[in-house]
Amino acid sequence: MAKSMTQAIRILLVDDEAMIRESSRRLLSARGFQVLEAENGQAALDVLSKSLIDIILLDLKMPVMGGEEFLRVIRASHPDIPVIIITGHGTLDTAVECMKKGAYDFITKPFEIDHFLLTIDKAIEKRNLEQKSKQYQEETVRNLIELSTEKKRLETIITCMANGLMVTNRNMEIVLHNPALLRHLGISEDLSNPIPVSQVLHDETLVETLKRIQSGQVPEKEFFSQEIHVGSKILRAISTPTLGPDRNVFWAVAGTVTVLEDVTAFKQLDQIKSDFLNMVAHELRSPLVSVRQLNSVLLEGLAGPLLGKQQDFVRKTVNKIDALLGLINDLLDVARLEAGRLVRQQAAVDVGKIIEEMVTLMEPRAKEQNIDLTYSCGDLKPILADPKNIEEVLNNLLSNAMNYSPDGGKVTVAAQGVDQFIEIKVSDTGVGIPAEEIPKIFEKFYRVKHPKTRHITGTGLGLSLVKGIVEAYHGSIGVESVPGKGTTFTIILPAMKTEG
Ligand SMILES: Nc1ncnc2c1ncn2[C@@H]1O[C@H](COP(=O)(O)OP(=O)(O)OP(=O)(O)O)[C@@H](O)[C@H]1O
Ligand SMILES: [Mg+2]
Repeated sequence: MAKSMTQAIRILLVDDEAMIRESSRRLLSARGFQVLEAENGQAALDVLSKSLIDIILLDLKMPVMGGEEFLRVIRASHPDIPVIIITGHGTLDTAVECMKKGAYDFITKPFEIDHFLLTIDKAIEKRNLEQKSKQYQEETVRNLIELSTEKKRLETIITCMANGLMVTNRNMEIVLHNPALLRHLGISEDLSNPIPVSQVLHDETLVETLKRIQSGQVPEKEFFSQEIHVGSKILRAISTPTLGPDRNVFWAVAGTVTVLEDVTAFKQLDQIKSDFLNMVAHELRSPLVSVRQLNSVLLEGLAGPLLGKQQDFVRKTVNKIDALLGLINDLLDVARLEAGRLVRQQAAVDVGKIIEEMVTLMEPRAKEQNIDLTYSCGDLKPILADPKNIEEVLNNLLSNAMNYSPDGGKVTVAAQGVDQFIEIKVSDTGVGIPAEEIPKIFEKFYRVKHPKTRHITGTGLGLSLVKGIVEAYHGSIGVESVPGKGTTFTIILPAMKTEG
């Protein structure tokens, strides 16, 4: 054992024979131990009450308090200190008896030096091992306490959450839930644990989502959001996988976590807002249409000729009224889209024909702006749609292409059939859209703030409508743009299934 290790070790030598104490002390001090002495049990107790002791060497026969009695006392007060009995041949039986009562070992007087030191080294080792094991035990207890505190804290958080929480295991059984979940799902009694998800959730699409997550075919950090209806309530469910160790692969999907939020009130407010918008737009439109008609009558000279600047003013008025009517129509369309009433009548629509019509309609404006407006259509299958919706999509994309292009630019519409789909591309050579703005341009009322386009008027509803319509027909819309060079919007719509 290294000297620096033994230096700190304190040995208490309890013997009434001064000579034995003296010789032992010399031996032990030479080995680097710190030695304290006592001439009987009582004196040893005094030392113990004042100093920290690692090992005790104990004689049996002593006046005042003998070794046996001392051992009995300190086994209760200092059970961790190893005690080595020093015994003569006459007291060997007593020494053995002491070992049964908790002494660590004994050495017989007169002792052999090597044996004496070996016994002490063994006792030190035992003491070190015991101390280490005690430390581990204390650490384990501390960790367990921390763990259970953390668990209690989590339980309280989960119980107090306003949102419903549901955790499932690999077998699609609910293994954890909170009171809010029961409240949101309208369940009055507590659930047995575990319980199959399908017995608790009656929304098949959500059960399907959880199955898909559980199958491990979805990215692990993905969140799945969907709305479910429970009675008159609307709940937003956000679900994600949880991972756990697995025999074959290191981590695998071990279940799912779903948080349910009650969004009924938001939905009602949203509905009130939509209804209000719808009502206001309707009320505004009728008088505006009359004003528009009266002005047209004036413009055509049916109420007498217009003099000088009058003609110009009335034309400008008509243009402004048309812009206002456009806005009102957009607002009404948004309200219809949100209420799911945008698609009114479906028929086989010839997209090529609509493109031709819309381009023809835009030609005068293109000429005014000196824009080269062209189109090309391959052989297209019809699509099943409300033609008004398709016109609206093209009208918005073409207006944008011309609005956001400088005079002298180029705008093209190209349509072609791709498998069971129809692909329509509207391209321009205009100002383009910065990459970071692209995800936002489909939001309602969003307009890119750019000094070059500041003068262009608009409400930011056009693209949200286009996207809404395209998605209502199970299609998709994408955009590619290079600022300063131009933009291409691509729409893909499913073609009508042809028989045979
Ligand atoms: N072809 C395009 N080139 C460049 N920017 C475009 C193009 N199309 C759309 N944008 C940008 O996207 C924004 C949103 O377009 P959106 O059609 O929704 O609204 P708007 O044209 O501003 O208004 P409106 O509701 O009258 O159509 C526009 O404000 C514009 O900044
Ligand atoms: Mg627009």
